[in-house]
Amino acid sequence: MNHVLTRAALAAALTIAASGAHADDKLKVGFMLPYSGTFAALGNAIENGFKLYVAEQGGKLGGREIEYFKVDDESNPAKAAENANRLIKRDQVDVLIGTVHSGVAMALAKAAKDADTTLIVTNAGANAITGPLCGPGIFRTSFTNWQPAYAMGPVAYAKGHKTAVTITWKYAAGDEAIGGFKEGFEKAGGKVVRELSLPFPNVEFQSLLTEIAALKPDMVFTFFAGGGAVKFVQDYHAAGLDKTIPLYGSGFLTDGTLQAQGASAQGLLTTLHYADGLNTPRDNAFRADYSKAYKMQPDVYAVQGYDAAQLMQSGLTAVKGDFSKKEAFRSAMRTATVDSPRGSFTLSKAGNPVQDIYLRRVDGLENKVVEVAVQKLADPARGCKL
Ligand code: BEZ
Repeated sequence: MNHVLTRAALAAALTIAASGAHADDKLKVGFMLPYSGTFAALGNAIENGFKLYVAEQGGKLGGREIEYFKVDDESNPAKAAENANRLIKRDQVDVLIGTVHSGVAMALAKAAKDADTTLIVTNAGANAITGPLCGPGIFRTSFTNWQPAYAMGPVAYAKGHKTAVTITWKYAAGDEAIGGFKEGFEKAGGKVVRELSLPFPNVEFQSLLTEIAALKPDMVFTFFAGGGAVKFVQDYHAAGLDKTIPLYGSGFLTDGTLQAQGASAQGLLTTLHYADGLNTPRDNAFRADYSKAYKMQPDVYAVQGYDAAQLMQSGLTAVKGDFSKKEAFRSAMRTATVDSPRGSFTLSKAGNPVQDIYLRRVDGLENKVVEVAVQKLADPARGCKL
């Protein structure tokens, strides 16, 4: 890992002294992430990715040292507003980084907007965050739930599937992923014949799998992630359904989960904004650094955290580390090109990545890239007034 200060970071450090800001003010970054429950591994990967980029810049962003604050949001929407306000009001963080669960993230976005605190969403795909809830201080380095799911629609139809059953958790991420797939699949000529769901984070899939077997669709499309995705893929395989009804999903189904899913996941096709085997110099360097630092391979969540730190670096470099220039900081972030391991991306006006969505196939412990399913896919940002 490169701990030497980059030229940009060094220049920023020198110019802070000449600006109105106090050169020794630390930048306060608040992580609101799940560190327990079904999404705990996802929260940890996001934090790891963020801190890796900071370490690569010599431990600073825009020449500023960073003070971290952390809250475990437990993926619990009922506690979300209170947790967000711990970071905003008690700790008075400058930037919020989080979270994973869409329901929690919507409350976080509302609290951030009310307090005019800059928020970078590092996973949760809730369409509303860069839709009706969009704002000048709201950014995302991940995706909308619509994006990867929509991309699977035409891919699945082109494979000859005419009917699909969907299955997911009943909450914003599940509903919106199914909505995205349905839009893409039915536009291509297919038909979603039944939408099945169970409450988040339940994993009692048996009766729903029996229903799928009776319905006999051409295919199943699903959104599950984390521990729930592990159990669903194992149960689908154990029921023997994968022999007759192919399973597809947004790529969260198999990202960061393959070690636990083992044989049950082999051959699965998913769509996502990251893949294994991209084999670009940028991704290879990131993967080498990440595995050296954390003794494990990175996944999509690590990339999203890493890119949040990169996005902040763009904003802070533009204001020469003077974080009090909030508007200039934000507008530099909005117009940045992020040199992401996934491939470089820009943000839409609403603040969401405009990015390639990859088709991937599970092979051993990798989600190997097959092709780009949709190039530079922008979320429609329905309801955003920016
Ligand atoms: C969500 O709630 O938005 C979400 C959670 C895990 C993976 C992807 C999306």
